[in-house]
Amino acid sequence: MKNIILFGKPGAGKGTQAALLRDAFQLVHISTGDLFRYNIGNNTSLGALAKSYMDQGDLVPDEVTIKMLEAEVDANPDAGGFIFDGFPRTIPQAQALVDADIDIQYVIEISVDDDEIVSRLSGRRVHESSGRVYHVEHNPPQKFGVDDETGEPLIQREDDQESTVRNRLSIYHQQTKPLVNFYTDLAASGQLTPIFASIDGLGLLADVQSRIVSVLG
Ligand code: AP5
Repeated sequence: MKNIILFGKPGAGKGTQAALLRDAFQLVHISTGDLFRYNIGNNTSLGALAKSYMDQGDLVPDEVTIKMLEAEVDANPDAGGFIFDGFPRTIPQAQALVDADIDIQYVIEISVDDDEIVSRLSGRRVHESSGRVYHVEHNPPQKFGVDDETGEPLIQREDDQESTVRNRLSIYHQQTKPLVNFYTDLAASGQLTPIFASIDGLGLLADVQSRIVSVLG
């Protein structure tokens, strides 16, 4: 079982790389952001709650997020491993994985500076129902404005406006970046042995993927 956490700033490329790794290693990809957007699209009460936080770029409360994540793990009993994309984002979320005995082998930070993030997110386009991600310049669809597989229109996420992106970045620095110490301390304590690696998220998608694959061995 190979469980991997991909973490990094909003727009660092977690979703893009998770999709590539899922296909290469036959892992189950769990994106908490995609799960919230699925609930919003289906008008569930969880979706309504999540939307009120996501539209501002704020984090959805831990209790709700942890419950949703654990349900998704339980729904995939035959998984050969998981890629967690966008979870954990806070210390209580990371502790919840430990408490649930979900052993993590690799924690990989995709490192990108803040200015590049703002540029990436303003050019991001998404296929809403599948979560497939494009960029108008760096990863364009074959045909302008439409999804490669379904031909359906691509959209721009509401939380990709610059002011919301700046808030998401600030929350990342306050609440998510401390996970680096959480995982290095955890490994040092001998409780669990995740390998923590920070890789450069700049460059071609394939080059970033190679850096991650070299960590995974
Ligand atoms: P979520 O959907 O997880 O958003 P995020 O973490 O902010 O990350 P993004 O999806 O914006 O970016 P990404 O790193 O996946 O980058 P991508 O591959 O798309 O969460 C949304 C919201 O949900 C949160 O703000 C919060 O409210 C809530 N939420 C989610 N999880 C939560 C949790 N655990 N707790 C509480 N709340 C939670 O790439 C970005 C763009 O760059 C794309 O256009 C892509 O094509 C392009 N790109 C990718 N790689 C490269 C490259 N190498 N070079 C150039 N361009 C590239």
